[in-house]
Amino acid sequence: MTPLPEIRGATITGTGMYVPDRVLSNADLEKMVDTSDEWIVERTGIRERRMAAPDQASSDLALIAAERALAMAGIGPGDLDQIIVATTTPDRVLPSCACTLQQKLGAHRAAAYDMFAACTGFVYGLGLARGLIGAGVADNVLLVGVETLTRIVDFTDRNTCVLFGDGAGAAVLRPCKPGEGVLGVHMQSDGELGDVLEVPAGGSREPASADTVRARRHYIGMHGKKLFPFAVRSMEESLRKVIGQAGWNAEDLDLVIPHQANLRIIEAVRERLDTPNDRMVVNIERYGNTSSASIPIALDEAVRAGRLKPGDGVGFAAFGGGATWGGSVMRWTIPLETALTDGVPAAAAQDAGA
Ligand SMILES: CC(C)(COP(=O)(O)OP(=O)(O)OC[C@H]1O[C@@H](n2cnc3c(N)ncnc32)[C@H](O)[C@@H]1OP(=O)(O)O)[C@@H](O)C(=O)NCCC(=O)NCCS
Repeated sequence: MTPLPEIRGATITGTGMYVPDRVLSNADLEKMVDTSDEWIVERTGIRERRMAAPDQASSDLALIAAERALAMAGIGPGDLDQIIVATTTPDRVLPSCACTLQQKLGAHRAAAYDMFAACTGFVYGLGLARGLIGAGVADNVLLVGVETLTRIVDFTDRNTCVLFGDGAGAAVLRPCKPGEGVLGVHMQSDGELGDVLEVPAGGSREPASADTVRARRHYIGMHGKKLFPFAVRSMEESLRKVIGQAGWNAEDLDLVIPHQANLRIIEAVRERLDTPNDRMVVNIERYGNTSSASIPIALDEAVRAGRLKPGDGVGFAAFGGGATWGGSVMRWTIPLETALTDGVPAAAAQDAGA
């Protein structure tokens, strides 16, 4: 891929995350469907996931993650020019989750809209924010990945219900010098693969009716076996493209933050890129697949654990329904002191927000 043109750079200046308190363990799922802790751990790496409380919708999760990211970035909601929310599970189909979040934040100046790219949403959002900031359309962009997937998971279907969880992650992006921040962007889709991951009803094709509810067509349907090789191939392809775009080699990545869909997928990508174990961020055992939230949650945990310092190379890669896939690389810019002293470390912040 050709290098990105030298325009105003865009970088992440704050991160935040939030997951609901309720833990749904593999043992809990054993009581609901014909599965076992052993099967789930061996085939996916997942031990537990979080589940939103009945009164929590996606915007409630997004709000806490966003406030934490804004605090680290040192800006207020009133400074925001754009709010992009990557989600497949907005509070309502209309208005957007981003507008609901904007109202909760009191970010009155911002344009707010949703990014509907399934698990690749956060990575697409990085590309979009980089373009908006680079072109001078926006200075301060809030990018959130949030999901309440347990609301669209069929807890009678063992093929899917063991995989997904709820959570939110956020990042604030601002202008920076060229040569820093986002240095590579790859975004791609293939609508031919539309049926490998879908919620069949509830849109204009099959509007909600008593029949669609009875047939359980408002839940996620998935061809896991078809997705697996596509996931490995597409994440490797995206990472190689953005590494090349930045003029880097795979060894220049100090940290790789892949979409957390399956530990075996992450491991296969790691092997193909020959990335050392300690450079791969993995938290799937605690949260499962939180779709568009998985990368920003993992990023915030890594940032607050001091795993990224200015000058480090960080890579992101994701794949998801659509099918969509993409990647990004960044030259990291947040000073360690800011990451470590903003409020409190991730675990304590979690308790405080609960
Ligand atoms: C879904 C996935 C974990 C299944 O793992 P797998 O190794 O491919 O397992 P298989 O599909 O071969 O299933 C093996 C057997 O386990 C069974 N099985 C499926 N889910 C099970 C569960 N939760 N517990 C126990 N057995 C299960 C299957 O029915 C199958 O049984 P069969 O051989 O009698 O038909 C894996 O394919 C995957 O992760 N795919 C990608 C999915 C994904 O990333 N989705 C999100 C995209 S963002």
